[in-house]
Amino acid sequence: MRCGFLTFVLILLVGVSCETEDEDIFVPSHEWKEIKQGQKIPAGLHIRVNLQTGKKEARLPDEINNKKQALVATEEQNEETFQHQIPLIELEETLKKIKNDAKQDSSEKLKTKYRSYDELKRELGTLKLTPKLDSEIIRDLIDDYKIEVGGSKNSTRIKNILEDLEYLSHQIDNAIDFVNQNGFKDVVYNSLNETDSVIKVLSLRLMGSLMQNNPKVQIHGLETGCIREILKILTLEKQVGVKYQAVGALSAVLRRFPLAQKQFVENGGLSVISKVFEDKNTK
Ligand SMILES: *[C@@H]1O[C@H](CO)[C@@H](O)[C@H](O)[C@H]1NC(C)=O
Ligand SMILES: *[C@@H]1O[C@H](CO)[C@@H](O)[C@H](O)[C@H]1NC(C)=O
Repeated sequence: MRCGFLTFVLILLVGVSCETEDEDIFVPSHEWKEIKQGQKIPAGLHIRVNLQTGKKEARLPDEINNKKQALVATEEQNEETFQHQIPLIELEETLKKIKNDAKQDSSEKLKTKYRSYDELKRELGTLKLTPKLDSEIIRDLIDDYKIEVGGSKNSTRIKNILEDLEYLSHQIDNAIDFVNQNGFKDVVYNSLNETDSVIKVLSLRLMGSLMQNNPKVQIHGLETGCIREILKILTLEKQVGVKYQAVGALSAVLRRFPLAQKQFVENGGLSVISKVFEDKNTK
């Protein structure tokens, strides 16, 4: 390696004012020149410490390096050192361009006041700070759910996913996202087939939250047979906690939804429900 040549180069604006009557003033050139002991240095020079000799050196700055302050460590002692830096002119032009772009935007009266999510994501993506939208979280959770159910079947993980989805589903748009991503079939109905009663409870709670005050999701639930599923549970389920949650889901789909109420009655729902309430264990 050329570490032996390592030179520590210090470029700075020297604030020493030039006292004209002084006897010993450093006379700079465009070449590096050693600064003698006690010499006064005019302002605006590049100064470096030559690590090999330990001596201070100075020279006139290149025009493009003018007004610049930097601290640079480099392997070379020669002028190439300064080519590693972004020329000031380029920098200034870039800044000007940015300013011009901004002006153009404001003259167009900013069609959209805020950047679109896509733009934001693209910009932040390069910084690896991608914010996740709820819809993305929902998609990830559904994917995770499928992986768990199809693979290791870790019931703790499955329960966590159902709880997370339930939390998100209180928002109407999230619930619709969930439906659009086929969550009813892939997650809700699938979980009702599990033997773990806690999973069934969480699935029914999720179903209820999704349909609560959400006509679009109520329609989806009806069309995909949620009333039959709920009645099946109310008829066959032994666990009171599961039945209790099934009644909750049922009320969510029936509320202010005559078509669902009709289907409920036609499927013998009234007798199923009255049997549930005859059961002494039911609160
Ligand atoms: C199931 O998942 C939970 C939470 O992620 C974890 O703590 C636990 O160790 C996992 N159990 C098994 C058997 O992998
Ligand atoms: C649940 O199980 C029933 C009977 O075993 C089956 O017919 C149905 O397709 C299953 N549902 C889901 C969503 O897996």
